[in-house]
Amino acid sequence: MTNTGKLWGGRFEQPTDAFVEAFTASVNFDKRLAPYDIQGSIAHARMLSKIGVLTQEECQAIIGGLEQIAGEIEREEFPWSIALEDVHMNIEARLTALIGEAGKKLHTARSRNDQVATDIRLYLRDQIGDILGELKRLQMALLDLAEAEADTIMPGFTHLQVAQPVTFGHHMHAWFEMLMRDYDRLQECRRRVNVMPLGAAALAGTPFPIDRFYTAQLLGFERPAANSLDAVSDRDFAIEFCSAAALLMTHLSRFSEELVIWTSAQFDFIQLPDAFCTGSSIMPQKKNPDVPELVRGKAGRVNGHVMALLTLMKAQPLAYNKDNQEDKEPLFDTVDTLKDCLRAFADMMPHVQPKRERMKEAARQGFATATDLADYLVRKGVPFRDAHEIVGKAVQLALAEHCDLADLSLAQLHALCPAIGDDVYRVLTLEGSVAARNHYGGTAPQQVREAVQAARARCGGG
Ligand code: ARG
Repeated sequence: MTNTGKLWGGRFEQPTDAFVEAFTASVNFDKRLAPYDIQGSIAHARMLSKIGVLTQEECQAIIGGLEQIAGEIEREEFPWSIALEDVHMNIEARLTALIGEAGKKLHTARSRNDQVATDIRLYLRDQIGDILGELKRLQMALLDLAEAEADTIMPGFTHLQVAQPVTFGHHMHAWFEMLMRDYDRLQECRRRVNVMPLGAAALAGTPFPIDRFYTAQLLGFERPAANSLDAVSDRDFAIEFCSAAALLMTHLSRFSEELVIWTSAQFDFIQLPDAFCTGSSIMPQKKNPDVPELVRGKAGRVNGHVMALLTLMKAQPLAYNKDNQEDKEPLFDTVDTLKDCLRAFADMMPHVQPKRERMKEAARQGFATATDLADYLVRKGVPFRDAHEIVGKAVQLALAEHCDLADLSLAQLHALCPAIGDDVYRVLTLEGSVAARNHYGGTAPQQVREAVQAARARCGGG
């Protein structure tokens, strides 16, 4: 090593200021990239050996050393050092300590700039895979609920006011559809993550006759990045991932909001499992929906990470800048937060108990079939605007009598509009209302069942 003790210390005379050393180090957080750094280094060594820059013996020694290091890290025996700045130099220094001269050759034809960009992409590709798995688990739970509750009537809301009856199954399927778009977005994003920067070296490429297609193939990348400057510089893939994550968290947050509302005594539409709630230290009667509340809250930090990454990138000239070291913590936290929230939801949803009677009662109280009455009048030849007015009067009457529209007598209804006959009661029932919306995308139980079938076929859930 050099007189400053750094891998890059050759041109330096004075040691790094102790504060600056800690300030510029990233090892405390980028050490989680270690398995990917090792994976990348093994592929790089294989490629160097293929093109004759490393002998087979050197290559084998390097791979053996790296595998040993992977074990040390897993067993938490690895001597991480802040002085070695980041995960890359920690591993490289350890490799040389373990295997000697050959270790010093590993960094031929690469730079930490292409190395770190490759590590992050390998990491993120893996994580997106995990996230898609959890997301799918949640989606399947929603489809199960949608199917089981295809006939369960609840009030549908606009403006959080009772609007028209829908089924709980239809409502669950709505969440499934939102999450399906998130799924597609993450899959799309993974395609763009899966491009290999390695070989860009510091920024311009390398004079060695490297075979980037071979390395890319070894690492399972779709292809090597087509421009070395772009490859080491941009973090748009991380921004794109965090944006998709923010949108997904926004969906989970809205969903959480509904669960919170539904568990309140005023709604009382569902019961959350005890295992996903906590009590109050002072109010013995309380059962708080902490898990959905926390998920709703965590959406905020992911939004913050998107903003942090966009701001990190916005004024950077090509190519690599040290600013980019700041990409990791927001990205890691986004991944961790998203995985936790998806896991919580996927674990919780199968145990949510819909309170069918309560939901139906709420639909009954809100004049949810008023539109059905108006549509009925239209079918009897009354223009829609007049029908709207007549039904408004019927609602006024029911309000005054503290009853539902279906409780008004035929004489009362007839007085409002002579076109009303005794067949009106069929459309005033909640069941009749939902069953009538029997078209693709509608809330009729039959449609919900078909939508669930189609969804299962689409995402291969059996
Ligand atoms: N720790 C650095 C990062 O995360 C690795 C790349 C450093 N490259 C450099 N030229 N200083 O970005």
